[in-house]
Amino acid sequence: MKIGLGFWPSKVLLSAVEMELFTDLAKGPQTLESLQQRNGLHPRAARDFFDTLVALGFLQRTGDEYSNSPSTDAFLDKRKPAYIGGILEMANARLYPFWNHLTEALRTGLPQNEARSGGQAFFEALYSDPARLKDFLQAMTGLSHGANIAIASKFPWAKYNTFADAGAAQGDLAVQIALANSHMSGVGFDLPVVEPIFEEYVERNGVADRVRFAAGSFLEQPLPKADVILMGHILHDWGMDEKRMLIQKAYDAVPDGGAVIIYECIIDDERRENAFGLMMSLNMLIETPGGFDYTGADCQGWLKEAGFRETRVEHLVGPDSMVIGIR
Ligand SMILES: C[S@@+](CC[C@H](N)C(=O)[O-])C[C@H]1O[C@@H](n2cnc3c(N)ncnc32)[C@H](O)[C@@H]1O
Repeated sequence: MKIGLGFWPSKVLLSAVEMELFTDLAKGPQTLESLQQRNGLHPRAARDFFDTLVALGFLQRTGDEYSNSPSTDAFLDKRKPAYIGGILEMANARLYPFWNHLTEALRTGLPQNEARSGGQAFFEALYSDPARLKDFLQAMTGLSHGANIAIASKFPWAKYNTFADAGAAQGDLAVQIALANSHMSGVGFDLPVVEPIFEEYVERNGVADRVRFAAGSFLEQPLPKADVILMGHILHDWGMDEKRMLIQKAYDAVPDGGAVIIYECIIDDERRENAFGLMMSLNMLIETPGGFDYTGADCQGWLKEAGFRETRVEHLVGPDSMVIGIR
């Protein structure tokens, strides 16, 4: 029942994010009357809505005042750097209605996003609006930050000097590697429009002397040469041909002894445990013409085919693992 009616708590949270409730409450506790008025809620709905958020652990209620829980305050206040609500805003506006067409996607194998009704592609629209793009890339940072810190500490960086992160977004992975390994310098490779957003972030984190941006498309151009190539949450967007092409480009970009690190929600080899990774793959069915997630064994097989001589999988945080290939 909890899963079957899982859209109840999901939509309660997504509506709260849509109203920027947690951003407002980060300024201080409020009474029911104040929250009801400020969010324009009907009296019939307000009390149940806010108390549901208390029962789900997102809000706390003391006396007659509501406040954010510590996690809500850290991750769902728009003005804090760890805000991850950008992804939830997108989930509310897009994925939630698109997933209503899951059965159709399962039967046809076709995307069920804007492409279904011939609307403007979401990512095209996003990339033509710098303010929205910055929000989105910031949200990616929030989502990947834990895994980025784990990669920066777990991988044997002492053996290498340079790296390039393909699809670097705001640059958090590059920043974390540089912060944790003072001998490393690297490049964030992404589409040209990302450059100012990347540079601001790198500057703010004090590693601009060792981390620079390279503009380009990994579909059209080779990857920048480096000792280690990284790709985070990239391969699952693409079908088999593009996956092979990107892995080959990574192989061509590193010297003998160099490495590729591929990280995302790697599915367990038995395909029984990582439900999040498996549903991420269904999300790729909804969102892309050919994308899919994969197991560590699948990815190690592709790396071997490309010529990498040693491969291994290491867990990072939550549903994320990294697949490492040594050339
Ligand atoms: C899902 S985000 C992943 C960001 C980051 N690696 C992470 O794991 O948090 C995909 C990134 O790939 C970039 N990207 C998409 N198409 C690209 C292309 N053709 N060439 C280079 N970068 C691209 C996007 O701009 C975005 O920053």
